[in-house]
Amino acid sequence: MQEITGRTRIFAILADPIHHVTTPQLMNQVFSSRGVDGVMVPFHVFPRHFKQMIRALRDLQNLDGFIVTVPHKTIMPALCDEVTPGAEQIGAVNAVRRTPEGRLLGGMLDGVGFIIALHREGIQIRGRSAYVMGAGGAGSAVAFALAEAGVARLTIANRTSEKANELVDRIASRFPKLALAIGTRDPSGQDIVVNATSLGLYAADPLPLDVERLEPAQIVVEAIVQPAETPLLAAAKIRGCRVQYGLAMLVCQIELMADFMGAVDSRSATESRNG
Ligand SMILES: NC(=O)c1ccc[n+]([C@@H]2O[C@H](COP(=O)([O-])OP(=O)(O)OC[C@H]3O[C@@H](n4cnc5c(N)ncnc54)[C@H](OP(=O)(O)O)[C@@H]3O)[C@@H](O)[C@H]2O)c1
Repeated sequence: MQEITGRTRIFAILADPIHHVTTPQLMNQVFSSRGVDGVMVPFHVFPRHFKQMIRALRDLQNLDGFIVTVPHKTIMPALCDEVTPGAEQIGAVNAVRRTPEGRLLGGMLDGVGFIIALHREGIQIRGRSAYVMGAGGAGSAVAFALAEAGVARLTIANRTSEKANELVDRIASRFPKLALAIGTRDPSGQDIVVNATSLGLYAADPLPLDVERLEPAQIVVEAIVQPAETPLLAAAKIRGCRVQYGLAMLVCQIELMADFMGAVDSRSATESRNG
């Protein structure tokens, strides 16, 4: 990492819990490789303090942006001055740009990262069936992204059923022709199975879905980054499923996050890599 001075621009990630985050490591690598005089630091913020923290961050003059993750993404849109159309549709924000005047612009990049990660692995999405366990910020983003990418059938399951119902209704109004269903803990009969809950962050967590019902032909995708091998992925491997780790989804959006916060221009990075 470069030396931190009085000129260094600050970026943060806000979460509860915070121990699992790997965004600072990846983001600081991006800053270092791109010569950005910036640093990303982890902020552990409880939900009851979140609003006052956001108010305070507006006035932090050397803060240019921050990442928002579990469990704050769905409250963040209401705390922004402006959100992108995509984030508004999804109902969650994971990247925030702070202007010099202290205005906050929110965006949502989880879905893009998720889709790029599957494409990079050569996993076909169009025409297939997908099951998403989780209807929080990541679950909503992933579900909208799968619909956008052309799945033939999309099933949403969630502990709090009202949130699954509400997400299905929002997707249905945007994609009226898509076959949508509310699921249970049973993922059988689906091509792509996604865990977008926070179950698996702690060793004592129960499994997010019924792993006995996994089938060898399925692709099981994890959103959790740390631990890399969650009990769900371990069980899926035993059953012969192809698995995708949560890190891929994060890696595929890290430059987009840096770009959204105004730290780098990812288009020029792509151009310079390609040219
Ligand atoms: N790889 C990546 O790039 C990436 C990106 C974003 C997020 N993530 C990971 O995805 C996970 C979810 O993040 P998020 O931002 O969507 O969080 P969130 O908005 O707080 O949503 C949490 C989800 O987990 C469910 N959940 C929590 N505790 C549960 C329990 N005890 N039993 C059953 N379900 C439970 C919630 O269900 P209820 O609605 O019933 O509460 C909700 O669906 C986190 O682990 C996060 O680290 C990874």
